[in-house]
Amino acid sequence: MKVVAFNGSPRANGNTAQSLKIVLAELTQEGIETEIVQLGGRKVFGCLACGKCRETKDNRCSRKDDEMNTFIQKIEEADGIIIGSPTYFSNVSSEVKALIDRCGYVAKSNGGQC
Ligand SMILES: Cc1cc2nc3c(=O)[nH]c(=O)nc-3n(C[C@H](O)[C@H](O)[C@H](O)COP(=O)(O)O)c2cc1C
Repeated sequence: MKVVAFNGSPRANGNTAQSLKIVLAELTQEGIETEIVQLGGRKVFGCLACGKCRETKDNRCSRKDDEMNTFIQKIEEADGIIIGSPTYFSNVSSEVKALIDRCGYVAKSNGGQC
């Protein structure tokens, strides 16, 4: 069993990271493997709404000019995911929104699995 946690803050040791570490420590105690992926501050673009993932149906985003497919693969291989984000103007960070939009659309295009 493995859980992957995304830190949506560009501050690798900030409040979001500290919160995630508290949660992951509990999971570790239960014998669950964990990994923190530093998402904030990484190169991730928004969804192009190109719809190509609906044609290819290969569990991947057709946009290849950033790291999103690496993150999608990590989600695919995990048994559970946690998405941590700081509040930015009453919303999640841009990187987290990009992850949710693109991974979500790829998932919807592939029978709900990402
Ligand atoms: C661009 C930006 C926008 C923010 N917007 C809000 C906000 O709308 N509401 C709020 O309570 N805090 C806001 N904050 C503060 C952060 O959410 C807060 O400091 C958070 O704990 C930072 O998490 P981190 O240490 O993981 O980066 C904002 C911070 C930044 C940099």
